[in-house]
Amino acid sequence: MKITGKTAVYGIIGYPVKHSLSPLMQTEAFKEAGIDAVYVPFEVEPENLEEAVKGLRALSVKGFNVTVPHKEKVTEYLDFLSQEAELLGAVNTVKNEDGELTGYNTDAEGFLRSLLEEGVELEDKKAVMFGAGGAARAVGYALLKGGVKFLNIVNRSFPKAKAVAELLGRLGNVLVYPLKEGTVETLLKDADIIVNTTSLGMKESDPPLFDYSKIPEGITVVDIIYNPPETPLLKAAKEKGCKTINGLGMLIHQGAVAFEIWTGEKAPVETMRRILERELYGAL
Ligand code: ATR
Repeated sequence: MKITGKTAVYGIIGYPVKHSLSPLMQTEAFKEAGIDAVYVPFEVEPENLEEAVKGLRALSVKGFNVTVPHKEKVTEYLDFLSQEAELLGAVNTVKNEDGELTGYNTDAEGFLRSLLEEGVELEDKKAVMFGAGGAARAVGYALLKGGVKFLNIVNRSFPKAKAVAELLGRLGNVLVYPLKEGTVETLLKDADIIVNTTSLGMKESDPPLFDYSKIPEGITVVDIIYNPPETPLLKAAKEKGCKTINGLGMLIHQGAVAFEIWTGEKAPVETMRRILERELYGAL
C-alpha cells in the first residue's frame, strides 16, 4: 500500500497485543473500502496507559481499539463515553475527533449482530449464560437489549455473578446461580438459548463446564470462543440437533461496528470474515 502524509492512523492498545487479529482484519477492511488508513498494534504496559492515551491524542491517531487489560481503566482518560460503555464500565473502541476522545463498547452490538446474522430470535426467550467476567457483561447486555425475557447467569464465583446481575438488572429480569450440577440441570430444562462466556473449552485439557448430555434438543447454543472453532460444548450441542454458533461472528462484528464508528461507512464484513477464517482455521 502507499502510505502518504495524508494516511490516517488507527491502532489497538493492549498488553500483550501480539496475538491480536485486529491489525490484519482492520487493515484489510480499510483496503477493501478504499480508505487511506493503516491500523497498527501498540503494546502498552498498564503503568503507561494514561501517557499512551495522551500520546495517541497528541499524535492525532484517529481511532483505536482497547483490549485486555486496559478496557476498564481507559474510561478514566477519555472525554466522553457512549451509553453502553458507561453502563458496562468498559471501552473497546475509541474515536478521536479533533482531540476529543469518545469511548464505545462494540462487544455487545457485535455479539447481537452475530446472532442476528444466524437468524436467532431473542424476543421473550429464556437464556442461560455461563460466566461473569468482562465478556459476560457485554453478552448479557446484548441478550437483554435483544429482548430475552429471563437472563439466568451461572458462575463458579457467586459474588462475581451477583455483581454482573446488579449491573444488568436494570435492563430486565436477571437471576444468578452457582455452577452446580443439579442447579444447571434444572435451568437447562427451561432454556431456549445457552451462551458460554467462560474460557473453558479453549484448551483441550479443560474439564466440561457442565454435563453436556443435559443440553436440551434443538435449542440454540453459543460459545464466544472462536479457537477451536468447535468447543466440546458446541460439539455436544450439535449432536443434540441444536443450532450452534461460535465466537468468530462476535469477533468480526465488534470490529465491524468499530469500523463504522470511525469511518461512517459500512464495514466489509465478508472480507473481514474471510481474513480471519484463513488466519485462524487455514480456510481459503
Ligand atoms: P473475560 O474478560 O474474557 O470474560 P474473565 O473476566 O477472566 O475473562 O472471566 C472469565 C470467566 O470464566 C469467569 O466467569 C470465570 O469464573 P469465575 O468468576 O468463577 O472465576 C470463568 N472461568 C474461568 N475458568 C473457569 C473454570 N475452570 N471453571 C469455571 N469457570 C471458569
